[in-house]
Amino acid sequence: MKRYLLFLPACCLLILSCKEKKGQSRPDSAPVTSTWWKEATVYQIYPRSFQDSDGDGVGDLKGIISRLDYIKSLGIDAVWLNPVYASPNKDNGYDISDYENIQPQFGTMKDFDEMLKGFHDRGIKVMMDMVLNHCSNEHKWFKEASQSRNSPYYNYFHWWPAEKGEPPYRFSIFDEKAYGWEYNKPTNSYYLHYFGDFQPDLNWENPALRQDIYKMMRFWCDKGVDGFRMDALAFISKDTTWPSLPAEYNGNWVMYYASGPRLHDYIQEMNREVLSKYDVATVAEAAGDIPRVKKFVDEDRKELNMAYHFEATEFGYLPGEYKMPDPNGYDFVKWKQVFAKWDSAFIDKGWGTAYLANHDQPRMLTRWGNDSPEFREYSSKLLTTFILSQRATPYYYYGDEIGMDNIRFDRVEQYNDVELLTNYAQVKAKGGDLKRFLEGMKISSRDNGRTPMQWDTTLNAGFGAGTPWLPVNSNYKTVNVAAQDKEPNSILNYFRRMQQLRKSNPVFIYGKYTLLDKENTSVFAYTRELNGKKCLVLLNFKDKQSVANTGLDLSKTKVMISNYPDPSKDGTLRPYEAVIYEW
Ligand code: GLC
Repeated sequence: MKRYLLFLPACCLLILSCKEKKGQSRPDSAPVTSTWWKEATVYQIYPRSFQDSDGDGVGDLKGIISRLDYIKSLGIDAVWLNPVYASPNKDNGYDISDYENIQPQFGTMKDFDEMLKGFHDRGIKVMMDMVLNHCSNEHKWFKEASQSRNSPYYNYFHWWPAEKGEPPYRFSIFDEKAYGWEYNKPTNSYYLHYFGDFQPDLNWENPALRQDIYKMMRFWCDKGVDGFRMDALAFISKDTTWPSLPAEYNGNWVMYYASGPRLHDYIQEMNREVLSKYDVATVAEAAGDIPRVKKFVDEDRKELNMAYHFEATEFGYLPGEYKMPDPNGYDFVKWKQVFAKWDSAFIDKGWGTAYLANHDQPRMLTRWGNDSPEFREYSSKLLTTFILSQRATPYYYYGDEIGMDNIRFDRVEQYNDVELLTNYAQVKAKGGDLKRFLEGMKISSRDNGRTPMQWDTTLNAGFGAGTPWLPVNSNYKTVNVAAQDKEPNSILNYFRRMQQLRKSNPVFIYGKYTLLDKENTSVFAYTRELNGKKCLVLLNFKDKQSVANTGLDLSKTKVMISNYPDPSKDGTLRPYEAVIYEW
C-alpha cells in the first residue's frame, strides 16, 4: 500500500504565542508545524527480549502479537522495533544478512504482516530499524564481493588493495585491536569496518548500492511501515581518498566519522527517492554536536525528521575508560544545561527526542534513578515524568514502565553483548584490572537493558517456556506487569497517567521550555508554556530532601501529577519527588 505524504493544511500550523520574559530561551512566537510524530510517544521494543511464543528462549513476532493489547494499554502512539531482519546475530540484528526477510528465530514475513496489521488496527504506528552503514559479512553482497575483485558487488564495500601496503588507520568500535580494516585473502585487499569485522561498511559512493538500498526501503514503505530509526547513519559517507586521520579528530573518531563529505547529499537523495513519497517518520542516530545534528532535521534541507544525541547519556563516565562509571557521579548542573541546550537547538528548525535508555544503554532506573527498594518506585516515576514532559518526542524503552533495573552480571561468561566482550578482551590484552572493569559494567553495560520483559511471577517471568537467551532479572517476582497492572499507584499506572497528561495537554509537546534554578545541584526545574497555559515541573533527583528556588509563587497553582500522595506546596521536595503544577 502506497501512502503518499499528506501536505498539512495551513490550520495545522500551530503558532506558539508565549509571552517572552527576561532570561527565557524561546522567542516570543515561533511557528511549529504539528505532525503526528511530534505528538507521539514511541515505545521501543527489543524483540529478542519482549515475549517468546515458541519456547526457544528468544522473543519473536508472535510474542509481540500476543501482547498488542498490553502495548495499546500504555497509551503510546508508535513502536520502534530493533532490527527484525535475517541476521547471524553477532550484534543482535545490527548485522543484517537479508534486508527483505525476517530473522527466522523471530518468525516469518506472514507474522510480520499480521503484527503490522495488529498495531495499525489499534492505531499504533510502527517504526523499523534501518541499518545502512554496514551489513553482515553473511549478506550475499559481501559473500560475493569477498570472492573476487571482479564481482559486481565488490564496489558495494570499501576496499584497500594490499599491493598499496597497509591501509591508513581507521578506528573500529567492536574490534579487539580497534582496527577498522580486515584483510581478505581471495581479493588480496582489506575491507573497512567501523564496527565489528563481521559488519563490513557499505560503500555509499557507489550509486548502484544506493539504488539497491532505496529499493529495499521502498519495499518496507509499500508494506505500510510508518517510519525508520536510522542506525549509525552519520557514518555512511567516507572520504575515499583515505587521508590520515586529521589531527583535529585525534581521539574523537565519532566527530570524524560523522563528517563524511557527502553525508547530506546521500540523505537528501534518500529523501527524494524514498521518504518524500510516503508518510513516514524518521529518526537519526545522530552522532555529533549541535551544528552537525541540526543538519539532519532542519526541514528546509529535506532530510530527516528527528534526531537523538548522546551528550546527556554519556555523562558520568571516566574519560577513555569504556563507560567506566565515575565514582564521583556526574555534574548534575551541567547535565540539566545539556537538555536546555538541545531544546534550544530545535526552537525554530528541526525536532529532538527525549530518552534516557534504549538497547545501547543500561536501565534508566539504575543509571539515572535509584533502584534500591526504598526509592525505586519514586525515582522510576520521576524519570517518567521527566521524559514525558520534554519538548521532544519521547522514546521510552520497554520494561522501564515497570521499573526494570540492571541485572548486574558477575562473570564475563554471563554476557552476550559484542561491545562488552570486545572491551573485556581489550582490557585483558593490556593486562588491565578485569575485576574493576566487570564492576563498572554492572552499571553501564548494554546487556543490563536487554533482559527479558517481566510479565508475571510464572516461569521465566512469563517471557516463555524455554531458557531465555539472557537471564531474567531475579526481582521479577515483585517487579512485573501483572502485579503493577492491578495496583493503581504502581509505576506502570503512573506511566499511563503521565502519558495521558502529555496527550491531553499540548503544552507538554509544543510549549516553550525554560530551565529554572539552574545552579540547583539536586532539583531539575523547568516551565513549559503555550498559549497562556503555564506548567512548572519540579524533579528532585536526589535521595534527600531538597528545595527548589524557582522564584515562582506556587500558592495559586494546581497539581497536575505527582509521585507522592501529598505533593509539595512550597518547593521543598522529598527524595525523588516529582510534581507538575499548572497555573
Ligand atoms: C547502533 C546500534 C547498536 C549497534 C551499532 C552497530 O549504535 O544502536 O546497537 O551495535 O549501531 O550497528
